[in-house]
Amino acid sequence: MKDKIKELLSEVEGFKAESKEQLEDFRIKLLGSKGQIKDLFAEFKTVPNEDKKVVGQAINELRTKAQEKFDAFKISLEGNTESKEEAIDLSRTGVPYKVGSRHPISIVRNEIIDIFSRIGFTVSEGPEVEDDWHNFSALNFPPEHPARDMQDTFFVESEEGEMALRTHTSSVQVRIMENAKPPIRTLSPGRVYRNEAISARAHCFFHQVEGLYIAENVSFADLKQTLMYFAKEMFGEKTKIRLRPSYFPFTEPSAEMDVSCSVCNSEGCNVCKYTGYLEIMGCGMVDPNVLENCGIDSKKYTGFAFGMGVERIAMLKYKVNDLRLYSEGDVRFLDQFKSAF
Ligand code: DAH
Repeated sequence: MKDKIKELLSEVEGFKAESKEQLEDFRIKLLGSKGQIKDLFAEFKTVPNEDKKVVGQAINELRTKAQEKFDAFKISLEGNTESKEEAIDLSRTGVPYKVGSRHPISIVRNEIIDIFSRIGFTVSEGPEVEDDWHNFSALNFPPEHPARDMQDTFFVESEEGEMALRTHTSSVQVRIMENAKPPIRTLSPGRVYRNEAISARAHCFFHQVEGLYIAENVSFADLKQTLMYFAKEMFGEKTKIRLRPSYFPFTEPSAEMDVSCSVCNSEGCNVCKYTGYLEIMGCGMVDPNVLENCGIDSKKYTGFAFGMGVERIAMLKYKVNDLRLYSEGDVRFLDQFKSAF
C-alpha cells in the first residue's frame, strides 16, 4: 500500500493539465467518489495498527496535494479561456453615465449671493428650528400680537420647550446683531417653513435670502440704491423697480419691492397680471426696537433689511408656474437647469 501511495504521489506531482478534459480525468481518477484516493481510504482498515499513523498521514498528504494541483490548474485553465474569448478591450469607449445638474433653487440662491458679495455682503446662517425670541419676539412681534398671524407657524416640542420651524430667515438677523458689532453687511440664505396648504402658489417649505446692513448714517436711499443694483444684475439692465409702502413689525418704514415684468417689458401679460410689475421682496429700515433688542445702540446706528423668496425669483427667471415642481425631484424637470453656478 505504501508503494501505491508513493506511486500516486509522484504521478500527482508530475501532472500537468493542458485542457479542461485532462483536468477532469485527473479529478475523476484521483479525487472522485470512485477514485483511487477513496479506494486507499477503504483499504486503510486493513493496515496493521502500528502502521496506521504513518499510512494515514501519507494518504492525507496525497489527497491535499491532488486537490491543490486540481485547484491550481482549474484557475489557470479558466483564466486562459477568459483571456482568449472574453478579454477586456481597452480601446472600447466607456459606458456613458448621467451627470446631474444643480437644482434651480441652488442656482438662483448662488446667483443672489454672488450679486451681493460683489458689494461686500458676507453669508451667515442660523438654525431651522428656532426659539420664539429669534423668530418673533426680538423682531418686534410681541406674544399675542396679531402680526404673528401673517405667518402660519409649525411648532415643535423639544427639550428646550416649545420651538418653531423658522417662518423666515429674519431670525438670522437677530442672531447676527446679538453677536457682531456694526458695521454689519450680511446675507442669510436658508429654508423656511409655513403651515400652508400645498398648491401651485404656496408650499409648506420654501427658501428665502435675507439681507441686513447696519452702520452709521444708513438711509432709505441706501436701501433703494442697493435693491436697484440687485434688480438690474438679476433681471437685466433695463429693469425698473418700484417701492410700495407696506408693514412688517421689524422695519419702520417698511416697503414691498416690485420689478418691471421682464416677460412683457411692462406692457401687461398674465405673469404680471397686466400690472407691468412683479412683487419680489419685503424691505425696510430696521426698527430701532429691534436694534435695541439685539444690543445695538439705535441712537448711533441705523440699518436696512430685506427678504426675498428664492422660489419666487426662480419662477420669474425660468417661467416656472408651479411651486411644487421644485420639490418633486422629477429628473425631466431638473435636467433643464444646467448652469455654471
Ligand atoms: N421676513 C419677511 C417674510 O418672511 C420678509 C422681509 C420683509 C424680510 C421685510 C425683511 C424685511 O428683512 O425688511 O415675509
